[in-house]
Amino acid sequence: MARNKTLIVGNFKMNLGVGEASLYVHELSQLVKSHNDVEVVLAPTALALQTISLQVNHRQFKLAAQNFYWRDHGAYTGEISASQLRGIVQFGLVGHSERRHIFHDSDKDIRAKVQAAIRNHITPILCVGETAFERSEGETAAVLHDQLIGGLANVTSDELEEIVIAYEPVWAIGTGQNALPHDVSMAIRAIRNQIKHLYGAKASEEIQVLYGGSVTADSASDYLVLPDVDGLLVGGASLDAHAFSDIIKKAHKGLAAKR
Ligand code: PGA
Repeated sequence: MARNKTLIVGNFKMNLGVGEASLYVHELSQLVKSHNDVEVVLAPTALALQTISLQVNHRQFKLAAQNFYWRDHGAYTGEISASQLRGIVQFGLVGHSERRHIFHDSDKDIRAKVQAAIRNHITPILCVGETAFERSEGETAAVLHDQLIGGLANVTSDELEEIVIAYEPVWAIGTGQNALPHDVSMAIRAIRNQIKHLYGAKASEEIQVLYGGSVTADSASDYLVLPDVDGLLVGGASLDAHAFSDIIKKAHKGLAAKR
């Protein structure tokens, strides 16, 4: 994805029912102005996607699936495919740490989901990040390397243009533990280096990379001003329409400050 817009993604996780999510989106739409330089993406429960897709102005909000299965159809009880989400969502989270660690999504699953998203014209947001233990062992760059190789194995240079990467250190997700901006910069530089190695310098400069992990309205600007950060993936703070709209406003200002 081109880096000309800051991407602010709100991941509601398994919170808010259909009615609540719909009310929330209505409230947020009153608080947020559309800015040409900020793309706001909402990832509510899958149950609410259809309703919200009909409700929102698509110039104001895009939608994302929190998860999907990689086959397009068939006997896979309980699953939702990217082909079923096509036309409803524009983005899909892939490899979120909760999927990797709680539901054991493997590199193979993640790679197949990236492909399924691309095949169905959904932009995958490929999440990568190290655990606290890996970090303490000094393995952050190696983990990012392996997760990128695993997720992008079948992705061509042309397809890479349709992908967003999110750096989300596992220890910072939902813990209130903020990653230091310097550490985020280092990790994202390692990600861009890996992309350079795999796809060349131009691709590494052009790929859109987000930060996620306990971002709040107070801390958002600390990350948004970093030259390598092109947006945020927000969990907990996205459930509060006022906090989330503050983050969106900061993204608009942060981009202005970077230029
Ligand atoms: P958090 O979640 O902001 O609640 O840490 C981020 C995420 O899981 O994407």
